Amino acid sequence: MALKLVHVGFGGWGLDWTKVVLDTPEVQTVGVADPNPAALGAARSRYGLPEHACFASLGAALSATDADAVLITAGAAVHAPLALSALAARKHVLVEKPFAPTLAEAQAVVAAAAAQNRVLMVSQNYRFFPAPWAVRALVEEGAIGVVGSVYADFRVDMARRLGSGSAYFALPDPLLLDMSIHHFDLLRFTLGEATEVSCTSWNPHGSPFTHPAVASAAVRLGAGGTVSYRGSWLEGPSTNWAGVWRLEGSRGRLSWTSRNGRDLSGERVTLRGRRLTLPELTRTGRRGVLSTFAEAVATGQEPLSSGRHNLGSLALTLGAITSAAQGRALALAP
Ligand SMILES: NC(=O)c1ccc[n+]([C@@H]2O[C@H](COP(=O)([O-])OP(=O)(O)OC[C@H]3O[C@@H](n4cnc5c(N)ncnc54)[C@H](O)[C@@H]3O)[C@@H](O)[C@H]2O)c1
Repeated sequence: MALKLVHVGFGGWGLDWTKVVLDTPEVQTVGVADPNPAALGAARSRYGLPEHACFASLGAALSATDADAVLITAGAAVHAPLALSALAARKHVLVEKPFAPTLAEAQAVVAAAAAQNRVLMVSQNYRFFPAPWAVRALVEEGAIGVVGSVYADFRVDMARRLGSGSAYFALPDPLLLDMSIHHFDLLRFTLGEATEVSCTSWNPHGSPFTHPAVASAAVRLGAGGTVSYRGSWLEGPSTNWAGVWRLEGSRGRLSWTSRNGRDLSGERVTLRGRRLTLPELTRTGRRGVLSTFAEAVATGQEPLSSGRHNLGSLALTLGAITSAAQGRALALAP
């Protein structure tokens, strides 16, 4: 039987999620919620739902439906309160990244999920593509020996993509919290935990962003080695969304990139100059996230990118933001 969902939050990304949900037979949307009537109307028509399944708040949706789970695709500021309401009603929760604006809020949600014995997963969809899985396995089996230096670059000219006047330009920490969290999560997925981060961020003259849109970070890895990361919302030519990565090890170089936003043609892993054939994933991107979530609910197993595990990616990201604000390196708790 399909997992019954209440889907909440229908900005551009929440509406885009409706295609993914409709394309995933393991789940079925029984209610939608958004305080903005236009967004709610758009969600209703995407799902083809009757008016009585559409609500101005999550609370109203939870009272009126018999959902098993809540999919939260609202903005980051409301992720934690929405997740806490859903968990209080004993619903499983799948929430978009960034999990929450602070570690304390995210920790409270993780504790609530544990107390209610519910599945809590954060949608870090970049993990669900073939290239990072191949890189993770190669690093783990020592294919390039001891990893010494890693270089990761991300560039997208968002100013040009969005044109003038976009609300996105006013987002707090638009690069580090909204985008680099994907890269920091991939860093942990492929290379293991980080122990220290030192970051500088800035907003160049003429940037349409209110807050820093460019950053450079050095991340020390627990396994040894350091990642040199550069991210920019203001530069082209664009990299793939996952960025371009180069790993220098004692036995050679591994280069990779992933997620071009269209299909799997952007997946590429090169080991010592030879392009590798990548593992096939049955479901990629958000289809993979949603199937994994449904499976975790069915089996009771902790999913990949559970809320508990995602605290590490949030801590690294918020550590980078704090490091940039305070002008010092920050040790990360194990
Ligand atoms: N994983 C990815 O690749 C990816 C891509 C884009 C966006 N995102 C994430 O998706 C989330 C949403 O992004 P967006 O660009 O659509 O945001 P947005 O700000 O455009 O839209 C947010 C929506 O949430 C609704 N909302 C606000 N408070 C609410 C509440 N209390 N209850 C229900 N709905 C509420 C708003 O009315 C709005 O419709 C963000 O966390 C963003 O980081 C992820």
